[in-house]
Amino acid sequence: MNRRVIVVLLSMLVLASLLVIFTVTHQRPKVPADADHLKSDDPRACLSCHGRGAAHARTKNHPLNDQCWECHERVR
Ligand code: HEC
Ligand code: HEC
Repeated sequence: MNRRVIVVLLSMLVLASLLVIFTVTHQRPKVPADADHLKSDDPRACLSCHGRGAAHARTKNHPLNDQCWECHERVR
């Protein structure tokens, strides 16, 4: 095998590993089943606490999507 083929294969391996690591370390936390979270299913209610600048704002690299239930499920 020539050296360029080896370099390309190694880069693909590194990229694939990084994707796996990112996926494993960025799991979606489940929505707790406490009073705050059972009161309403409306994303606008969620954002009153988790919206930008609110008391429990999501981190800056949270996905830019406000349809909470597409990604977060409730703990059972
Ligand atoms: C009254 C304020 C309030 C409302 C309304 C609220 N939350 Fe929360 N939420 C909190 C607090 C406080 C925590 C726990 C501390 C934290 O993670 O900031 C929390 C935690 C969470 C977590 C877990 C975070 C983790 O790291 O484990 C998720 C997911 C979440 N909320 C989603 C939602 C969704 C979806 C809604 C709308 C149905 C919602 N929240 C409504 C205050 C609120
Ligand atoms: C596109 C999928 C998606 C949607 C839609 C979504 N989230 Fe998340 N959320 C995630 C992921 C992934 C994480 C974990 C982020 C990480 O670990 O870097 C997360 C983490 C959180 C956390 C923990 C704190 C943080 O920023 O890591 C809270 C609280 C939260 N989401 C609340 C919400 C609320 C409230 C909504 C709706 C307004 C919502 N999420 C919509 C995917 C989503």
